[in-house]
Amino acid sequence: MLKIIRYNTLVILSVLFLFSCKTEKHQFKNSASKAEIADKAMIVSARSEASRIGAEIMKKGGNAFDAMVATEMALAVSYPFAGNLGGGGFMVYRTADGEVGTLDYREKAPLASSKNMYLDENGEVISEKSTMGALASGVPGTIAGIFKVHKKFGSLPIQELLKPVIALAEKGIVVTQKQQDRLQKYRDVLMQVNEDTILFTKSYKAGDTLKNKALANTLRRIATNGRSEFYGGETGKILLNFLQERGGIITEQDLLKYDAKWRDPVQVQYKDYQIISMPPPSSGGIVLAQILKMIEPYPLNEYAHNSAKYIQVLTEAERRAYADRSFYLGDSDFYEVPQDSLLDSNYLEAKMANFSFEQATSSSAINHGELSNFYESNETTHYSIVDAEGNAVSVTTTLNGAYGSKLYIPELGFFMNNEMNDFSLKPGVPNMFGLIGAEANAIAPEKRMLSSMTPTIIEKDNKLWMVVGSPGGSTIITSVLQTFLNVAEFDLNMQEAVSAKRFHHQWLPDEIMMEPAGFEEKALEELQQKGYKINQSESRIIGKVDAIRVLPNGKLEGGADPRGDDTAVGF
Ligand code: GLY
Repeated sequence: MLKIIRYNTLVILSVLFLFSCKTEKHQFKNSASKAEIADKAMIVSARSEASRIGAEIMKKGGNAFDAMVATEMALAVSYPFAGNLGGGGFMVYRTADGEVGTLDYREKAPLASSKNMYLDENGEVISEKSTMGALASGVPGTIAGIFKVHKKFGSLPIQELLKPVIALAEKGIVVTQKQQDRLQKYRDVLMQVNEDTILFTKSYKAGDTLKNKALANTLRRIATNGRSEFYGGETGKILLNFLQERGGIITEQDLLKYDAKWRDPVQVQYKDYQIISMPPPSSGGIVLAQILKMIEPYPLNEYAHNSAKYIQVLTEAERRAYADRSFYLGDSDFYEVPQDSLLDSNYLEAKMANFSFEQATSSSAINHGELSNFYESNETTHYSIVDAEGNAVSVTTTLNGAYGSKLYIPELGFFMNNEMNDFSLKPGVPNMFGLIGAEANAIAPEKRMLSSMTPTIIEKDNKLWMVVGSPGGSTIITSVLQTFLNVAEFDLNMQEAVSAKRFHHQWLPDEIMMEPAGFEEKALEELQQKGYKINQSESRIIGKVDAIRVLPNGKLEGGADPRGDDTAVGF
């Protein structure tokens, strides 16, 4: 008996010891840590309605690509802040048998666009011209994107995929508290740009139902007439008339010439992991790969999570990678992006050679550019899907700014993008994310503007391991990076990894932006002593990550970002 008691005490003590080690090693503050677990399939998106519709499609026998089509459109209904028909996006996929690829349905500059179209007679940027109103829009790619996905991989008819989405638009979505706050925040500017009230300028309260009959009708026409309804059909014509009456330059020729493109992903090995991400016109894959290769030699899991040392290594790698982004990255159909050189291990090793734990590197020592203190918040939206066969899709889609150009087409029920602002309007002048660009990202007809969207899929031991991505403009890449490292290096579960506080450095401005109230005072003091400028004053969130991890037992573990209304639905 005594032996049994002693044995039990020993077991309890060992468990307590292990538990205390784990909490000490993974000290972090977050608001959600319990991960959703599913046996077969899962979807995580910015809205519960969209996640449910995607999951229902997979329950009916549809695959992850069918679910992508339905979810993309369901987000346009339920999350018009970023979900869209008037914007564009990127998809990274991995089929159950291991084939990987990407689809680029990014917007394109109109045929009538030109390099200096947003400059005044003195050569200065007229900032509102590329952010608000009809001239701010690139040629939308989203409808071309979903049809391209459906044609190659879809298994259910498009009408069946759009049916629950049309019903959602008709019956209405329930306004959440966060949605109420957003609509209130943007009401004045929406009224100003639209010179009138629109569906979204009414005073909604959390719990109200918001119906969008016009969008239901648009989707019904698209379900019946297919892709050409948008690119040449009635919907396209309404869109063109609307924009042209307001000074827009997109023409029928632009819509007819638009096509989405399959592209090879950027792939990089980090320790036991194979990272598969988006190539240009996104900077996401290359910058993520550069940072990962620069930090790989450091024993990150020996530093405490979000400790000064950890933040320092990531910051210095981010500083160096974002400096390259500004000069070398643009649409590879128009500009020869030196991808191999940028990912060359000797090159990256040399870039980190002047890093010392003793003191911050100055961004002016990395390269030159104008300082900016401007950041925008978390527009854009990301969703991750894994189906019962093991197909995975990682999609980030956007209007660029919040409600895009703010220009809403009442007859069609959707907002238009302001993606033209993602071009470098003038070398050295930062865009709305504070990102600085060069010739590689100058405006040219039919060119795609550089993006930071980083939909990513990660393999471990040649098997699907994680599907991850985020909104957040320039902070997307660092949000994806830290979520991956939180699991790979610090053993957090998928939800903890998504919820953990994040930080961001993008070369210029030369400061570490940090989410407020989530970092140890000691770490911040140490960083400041070493010369790092900390910016917590914006009291903002960094990224809104939605991710899925495949557990060793094959179950799926979801991470839905508590910073938004994001929801994981699985079965
Ligand atoms: N419009 C945000 C991005 O593409 O990075």
